[in-house]
Amino acid sequence: MKIISVANRKGGVGKTTTAINIATALSAIEKKVLVIDFDPQGNATTSLGITKAKNQPSSYDVLIGRCGAERAVIGTDIPRFDVIPSSPDLAAAEIELVDLHNREFVLKSALSRLNDVYDYVLIDCPPSLNLITINALVSSKSVLVPLQCEFLALEGLADLMKNINAIKRNFNSELCLQGIVLTMFSRQNNLSKMIEADVRKYFGDKVYETVIPRCVRIAEAPSFGKPILLYDFKCSGAQAYVQLAKEFLKREKEL
Ligand SMILES: Nc1ncnc2c1ncn2[C@@H]1O[C@H](COP(=O)(O)OP(=O)(O)OP(=O)(O)O)[C@@H](O)[C@H]1O
Ligand SMILES: [Mg+2]
Repeated sequence: MKIISVANRKGGVGKTTTAINIATALSAIEKKVLVIDFDPQGNATTSLGITKAKNQPSSYDVLIGRCGAERAVIGTDIPRFDVIPSSPDLAAAEIELVDLHNREFVLKSALSRLNDVYDYVLIDCPPSLNLITINALVSSKSVLVPLQCEFLALEGLADLMKNINAIKRNFNSELCLQGIVLTMFSRQNNLSKMIEADVRKYFGDKVYETVIPRCVRIAEAPSFGKPILLYDFKCSGAQAYVQLAKEFLKREKEL
């Protein structure tokens, strides 16, 4: 079971979209996948069309130790694809955890009880580096970073790498960069192309060859409660995510 955080401190760069759609593509090729919605905004939960029952436990309950991870899991309409939904309460978890000894390791110990049920666990992180994200990174083997090619993207990425290294030094020596995926890319935009060239220059083969194009259908899909792969399999965005999942697995084999 490999746990991967999908993270970037910057908001709206495609973290949730990437988590959900890589998970969908992986489940389509027989992998067992769990997505943990670890953002109080709950976008992964709603994008999958999940309306949480009132007493359904969430990632918040798991984090504060109120319930075991296996009890918070719910199935989706997609075979081999499970979710631990989020709840707005998660925003308060940070304050609740602050006084705990080992507060950075709470999620890690909660997830250790999931025992190899899944091939991949993807944690959809919030757009900040708070104690919630730190818990996700401490639990993970690697970080998958969606990056939007726009002004200051590289500065943001440099900050993120510093944070990852700090976590590595202090809490989780295993943590590594799974890869960087360029999202919402527009070929017509010269700035996008310049930033792509820079990112590839600095991060080399850590950057996926597959690039996710800007695609209206991707933006529409969440309101229908479906990953883009189910909403419109033929569109450029869906095809790009299929390609990304293939590249992801190919690199996994090479590791
Ligand atoms: N390739 C794309 N083309 C067009 N729209 C996209 C694409 N990827 C994501 N979007 C849309 O952009 C918005 C932000 O994407 P998403 O929610 O995945 O980002 P995020 O990094 O998870 O945001 P947050 O930081 O708020 O959690 C969403 O409305 C999403 O539907
Ligand atoms: Mg998100």
